[in-house]
Amino acid sequence: MKLLEALQWRYAVKKMNGTKIPAEKLETIIEATRLAPSGFGLTPYSIIVVEDEETRKKLQPAFYNQSQVVDGSVVIVFAAWNTISEKEIAEYMQEIADQRGVAVDTLKDFSAAISGSFKNKTPEQARVWADKQAYLALGFSLVAAAAEEIDATPMEGFAPDAVDEILGLKALGLHSTVALTLGFRDAANDYLVNAKKVRRTTDKLVIKK
Ligand SMILES: Cc1cc2nc3c(=O)[nH]c(=O)nc-3n(C[C@H](O)[C@H](O)[C@H](O)COP(=O)(O)O)c2cc1C
Repeated sequence: MKLLEALQWRYAVKKMNGTKIPAEKLETIIEATRLAPSGFGLTPYSIIVVEDEETRKKLQPAFYNQSQVVDGSVVIVFAAWNTISEKEIAEYMQEIADQRGVAVDTLKDFSAAISGSFKNKTPEQARVWADKQAYLALGFSLVAAAAEEIDATPMEGFAPDAVDEILGLKALGLHSTVALTLGFRDAANDYLVNAKKVRRTTDKLVIKK
């Protein structure tokens, strides 16, 4: 499928049919998500990939009983960092040094620019910033899923504290930001399966200057 066809095909599925998605498709979606850009490249989040059925059953009440959590095949929780400190920045510098084969010293100015940016933010602003980066990654996952003809429902409809508790995110310095269920649509039982896609028209969306 061409990109725009795939984006027309996808919709936020309300009813999935319980079929497991192929492992290689999940890997592709995860890899596309890993390739999402983020501010400074810092990637201030992890993605929690929940395939285990028991864990998804535990999560369902925290998702206000949305059926896709159990009728889908995988729930991905985008979990942003709770804090951004010198430690995370230093680890990122080391990652660049290792992956690009450069001395960490050569990254001093970049590191100082990142630190400076977060010194100007309150902890709450830093958290909001990290959440925004996680949302961008969600976008990459959604497009990748459509390209792979895997159905996906983005989800904000969950109680974050309950999800954090079930997945033990606090101990990892993370909090749930947004989620995604992957699976296959139950075409016979999803009332949205043939619904026309509603979007703001281009002339309303695009303001040309
Ligand atoms: C960030 C975000 C959170 C959403 N949360 C939910 C959700 O919790 N449950 C749900 O069924 N749909 C959810 N949706 C789906 C939207 O309602 C849907 O994407 C929107 O109406 C556009 O329709 P389409 O994706 O089917 O084209 C969410 C979408 C986004 C982007």
